[in-house]
Amino acid sequence: MKNLLDIYSRKKKDVAAIERELEESVYSDHTMLRETSLHLLKAGGKRIRPVFVLLSGEFGAYKLETMKHIAIPLELIHMATLVHDDVIDDAHTRRGQLTVRSKWDNRVAMYTGDYILAKALGVVTKIANPTVHQIMSKAMVEMCIGEMEQIRFFFNSEQTVRDYLLRIKRKTALLIAISCQLGAMASEAPDWISSKLYTFGYNVGMTFQIRDDILDLCGTEKQIGKPPGSDIKQGNITLPVLFALQDPALKPALLQELARIQQHDGQTDISRFLDMIRSSGGVERASALSQKYIQRAISALEGLPDIRAKKDLVEIAYFIGNRSY
Ligand code: IPE
Ligand code: IPE
Ligand code: MG
Ligand code: MG
Repeated sequence: MKNLLDIYSRKKKDVAAIERELEESVYSDHTMLRETSLHLLKAGGKRIRPVFVLLSGEFGAYKLETMKHIAIPLELIHMATLVHDDVIDDAHTRRGQLTVRSKWDNRVAMYTGDYILAKALGVVTKIANPTVHQIMSKAMVEMCIGEMEQIRFFFNSEQTVRDYLLRIKRKTALLIAISCQLGAMASEAPDWISSKLYTFGYNVGMTFQIRDDILDLCGTEKQIGKPPGSDIKQGNITLPVLFALQDPALKPALLQELARIQQHDGQTDISRFLDMIRSSGGVERASALSQKYIQRAISALEGLPDIRAKKDLVEIAYFIGNRSY
């Protein structure tokens, strides 16, 4: 399996151009806003959403100039939600660096997120098609609902796998879906193509979050840029945990652990909980479901022209299905 760098190398020049403009796009004369937004930007990140825009754009009349005005706002929207997400999650580190809320404080992080969103709005106006604006707006609304639902379901052990899947669709998969869709739309690819790419992105996005949730339980701090178990400390019950709870032999002990973690507001040793989940078979079941989404993603590409970007999308889908960072 290729890693992301291999796949990106073909698009190296264009990714580098986007990187430069991302930096310019958050520039502010206001020292603090400039520093807070550059802090997260410079910490790196996979830039997977811009890459989906670029590859999808190759199914139409690819022009970097146009692609930029889709890729940059999508990465900015993603970044803004991360800054806000870290406030909600009380996260101390992200991308191996202090979060904005830790380095500054929660209030600064809220405005930094708002500021980055405002900048995203500024860039996307360069695209004259209101349908593009509507699609982005709708996806952002769904992301807010997803994050709100996550809070509503904190420590709720009665929630179903369906509740979980709907939530990750909103908070993660839709943004990846529209990265693919809008990349194709902006390069004026036919509708049937942008719609297949949307389906591809949606399924990849579902895998993406399931993998993220598995990594939170099983990854190392070095891999994931933050301590493992952050989700459960917060009360976020993810797919491997839901599967583990379906085991009647395990459920009572797990519920006890959950209650204990909740009582201590997450400020307690969670190693027993993590061990129970890791040995429950729940992680393997979650992985199996994520592989199904990968297969669906790849099926969605059937019938698309056999261009290089199609192969790259398949490679990225496999990478995401197995990613460890
Ligand atoms: C993290 O997204 C948040 C999720 C949707 C899981 P990424 O894993 O794309 O974050 P970066 O941009 O690479 O840091
Ligand atoms: C992803 O959720 C955040 C958004 C989609 C806004 P997580 O809370 O799982 O992301 P990480 O794990 O903090 O990156
Ligand atoms: Mg988080
Ligand atoms: Mg996570």
